[in-house]
Amino acid sequence: MLERTLAILKPDCIRKNLIGKVISHIEEAGFKIVALKMLKLTPEQAKAFYYVHREKPFYSDLVNFMTSDKVVVMVLEKENAVNDFRELIGATDPKEAKEGTIRKLYADNKQENIVHGSDSPENAKIEISFFFPESELIANQM
Ligand code: CMP
Repeated sequence: MLERTLAILKPDCIRKNLIGKVISHIEEAGFKIVALKMLKLTPEQAKAFYYVHREKPFYSDLVNFMTSDKVVVMVLEKENAVNDFRELIGATDPKEAKEGTIRKLYADNKQENIVHGSDSPENAKIEISFFFPESELIANQM
């Protein structure tokens, strides 16, 4: 069954001029881009998006980082999109990420790790609706 996931190209990805390279990896892995936009998160948005991490010691640093530059948010579609995208991006910490994954190739550390991917189909739905109204989620032509 076709599934959707939310991807965010983070401020480090934008600063390193890697938007095109990372999107190439994503498309070459078979994901279709259903929706895409560039925006600068407000602190309120970043706090709300990462609310589940509010108790973590890295929460305020994460909010500062995610608001330090623009981000690119995308809805990606594919069979098994949530798990396959997490495989493609690799572990949170690039030191632990498998060879060939986006974080292994491009990320500096576990905070500045280039890209976010939803961690479950339930969270994917919540995260997609955080950024995209239904009117922007038009299905691709097959
Ligand atoms: P992401 O997949 O966007 O989900 C939560 C983010 O918090 C994660 O990527 C990292 O950017 C950040 N993060 C997770 N663990 C740590 C950590 N131990 N130290 C700093 N940042 C972290």
